Formats: sequence, C-alpha cells, structure tokens
Amino acid sequence: MEHFELNGGNRLKGAVQISGAKNAALPILAACILCEDEVTLHNVPDLADIRSMINLLNRLGVKSQRRDDGAIQLRVVDEMNCHAEYELVSKMRASVCVMGPLVAKRKRAQVAMPGGCAIGFRPVNLHLQGLEALGAESELTGGDMMLRAKKLKGTEMFLGGAFGSSVTGTANVVMAAVLAEGRTVIESAACEPEVTDLADFLNACGARITGHGTPRITIDGVAALKGCEHHVIADRIEAGTFAIAAAITNGELELRGARIEHLIAAIDCLRRVGVIIERGEKGISVSSTRRLEPVSITTQPYPGFPTDLQAQATALLCLADGNSIITEKVFPDRFLHIAELNRMGAQLRREGGTVIVHGVKKLVGAPVMASDLRASAALILAGLIAKGQSRISRAYHIDRGYERIEDKLSAVGADIRRVGE
Ligand code: EPZ
Repeated sequence: MEHFELNGGNRLKGAVQISGAKNAALPILAACILCEDEVTLHNVPDLADIRSMINLLNRLGVKSQRRDDGAIQLRVVDEMNCHAEYELVSKMRASVCVMGPLVAKRKRAQVAMPGGCAIGFRPVNLHLQGLEALGAESELTGGDMMLRAKKLKGTEMFLGGAFGSSVTGTANVVMAAVLAEGRTVIESAACEPEVTDLADFLNACGARITGHGTPRITIDGVAALKGCEHHVIADRIEAGTFAIAAAITNGELELRGARIEHLIAAIDCLRRVGVIIERGEKGISVSSTRRLEPVSITTQPYPGFPTDLQAQATALLCLADGNSIITEKVFPDRFLHIAELNRMGAQLRREGGTVIVHGVKKLVGAPVMASDLRASAALILAGLIAKGQSRISRAYHIDRGYERIEDKLSAVGADIRRVGE
C-alpha cells in the first residue's frame, strides 16, 4: 500500500492547473446512459472514482475510450444489463447516479443500496422519494434497490431532507425527469455548480431544463436525448484545497481554471482569516500574510461553506492566533481527521457536530492515517507546514479525488513524495 512522505516548512509558490470536477463528471458520465448518440467529454479528471464509474458503465453497456488528447468518448451499445452490483457501489457511493438514467431509459434498475462510509450514514431516501414521485416502483431485495417504471410522468415534488438538499439525489431525479412525460418541478433542489454542469450537459443533449443553480428546477420531458460534446467545469474543491495550501505555507499560488463564483463562501471565510484572494487572468490568485485570524465556520449546502472543505479548513485553523469553531451541518460525523491532526500537535476538541480549534504556534510531523478523501487532504496540508517529516498512509484515499497531488504540490515547491510498499 502506498503512502506519502512530506518534510514541512517550504513556502509554495507558482501556478497550479486545476483539474475537471470529479463531482460533476461522475453524474455526467452516468447521464450518458440516456443518450442515443455518442458523447464526447473534455476535462474529465483521471481519478480512481472516474475509472470506477467508467468500469460500471462498461458493465451497463456503455462503451468508452479516452483519446490521446484526454477527451473521453462514450456510446451506449447494449441495454440489457441494468444491475449496479454491491462490489462496485460499496467502493464508490456515486454509483447510485446510474439509478435515475436506468429507470428513465430502460424502465428498470437494480442498484445496490450503498452502505455507510468514513464520513457517516449515507441514506438514499430522497433519491427513491423523487423517482417514486415520477412513477417508479421500488423495493429493497437482498440489499439491492429494485426499480421499475412503465412510463415516468412529470410532477411537482419537494426534495429537501433533514440536512437540506441532496446533490446526487437532485442529479438522479433530474436525469430521470428529462425523459418523463410532461413537466417536473423540483423544490429544494441542490444548487451546487456540479448539478448545474449536469443540467447544462443534458440541455446540450436536447433536454429542456431551467432553474438549475436555484432551489427550484423545472424539467419539461422530451422523447429522446441525442449526444453532445461537453467541457466539464473545474473542480472547486481541489481549487479550495490548493488555496488553503498557499495559506498554510504562507505562500502564493495561481489556481488556473478555478472560478471565484463557485467558491464565494470559502473565499469569504479565507479572506476573514487573512488570506489575500483575487480574481486572476487565468483563475484565482492566492497569497498569505503570516498571521492567521481565528474564525467560525458552519458547513451548508451550496452556496454555503462546502462540507468538502471542512477538514482542510480545520487544518489551516490549527495555526490561527486564537480559538476557531467549526460546525459540520451536512455530515455531522465528518471528523476522522481530528485525532490525526492532534497527533501532529493540533489542539482540537470535538463536541458533537462541532469542533473547537485552539490555535497553536506549530505542528510537528508524525506518522498519520488517512481515512477518507478530504481527511487525507487535510493531513497533507498539515504535513506541508509541520516541522520535520510526516508519513501519511493509505494514499489511495487521496487518489479518489485529486489527480497526481504530489506532482502538483512538488511543482510549486513542496517536499512530498509517494512511496510504494
Ligand atoms: C455529494 O454527495 C458529493 N459527492 C460529496 O462529495 C459531498 O460531500 C456532498 O454531495 C455534499 O456536498 C458527489 O457528488 C459524488 P448529499 P451526496 O446527498 O450527493 C443527506 C467528496 O468528498 N441525505 O448532498 O451523497 C446526507 O446524509 C464527496 O467529493 C439524506 O438524508 O451528498 C447528508 O447528510 C464526499 N437522504 C446530506 O443529505 C438522501 O437521500 C447531503 O448529502 C441523500 C442525502
């Protein structure tokens, strides 16, 4: 199993090319199940999760190839298999995004119910509620969600849950509604840029979606979708992660391809910490003065502070001049990074869904354990500044969501390397 070794203390300086958004590419890949013709996708990141989705689509009769220029071409060649098996879904929860397209296009779906994961309970009740509202029948058999539908019919629905809107829940229902008869209105839809990018992709294929990016999305069903050529948006979470890397090392980075309008809440927070963030000609430029101010953060669905940057912000605030308070409202158990950061000398105390951060003068390198994608990113950020060597085991977690992170960091001055066992 591979691990990362870092020697902390280097200031990062230079330009980083931000990759395509994992969480936009995953539902867009699943949406190819709906298309009658070939699809060409540009700016799809080369990540473990993307390869898992392509593997699943292959089993579902969607053939694909990645061209030399990096674009991925996909085409449906067989519609017989509609089963997303547990061994795939358990590895990547986003596999559930095939459910809506399968029900809409093939009138049936058998998708393993995803279990829990490192960040907590991951229910799919809103996915099922939305698909049933459109006329699908569902039952749980042997851990698989079995769905059938003669013809989906548009309707009005409320898709908010106990923790607000659902990103992939909204994606699944939108993908099903594009081929339903009549109009669908989704109230309390997710507003994330990744959902907006999916809707833009579907509209380019001939769907009729309006309101995407707002809590009310309207879809007028069409008979069929053709193919299209689409450029996936930049990954705002990777951009936010590198912005924090610049801040924590008192460096300066240009985040090429990043879009400020996709990160307003995180940028507002970092500016209050004392980080200088400006719109650059090719993206976002980030620089930092040595002093970091403590702040309070509460994660919320978009446009709020993204839960996917909570662990990374926690790492940064370990070094602020004072106490910060971070409240996790989306995944209240998303704190596996706390114990590992404390091994590096942080002073973090969890109180339910909140962590109290008592700022310290320095962190000290240590061997630590990665547990999930964003917790791993937080440990790497801490390792960039910790005194001495840090060793972060289970590198595979980070590979799920960051393309060659050690290459991108080394290129701007970090002392990091991947070590295979
Ligand atoms: C997406 O997950 C992202 N993954 C997650 O990113 C991200 O953390 C999350 O949205 C929130 O922004 C992808 O897009 C592939 P949700 P998703 O449904 O769709 C509850 C990463 O690190 N909920 O928006 O699974 C749920 O338990 C990953 O890249 C229900 O109650 O998240 C949570 O508390 C991690 N019922 C809240 O809603 C449901 O049916 C938000 O979940 C669905 C969700």
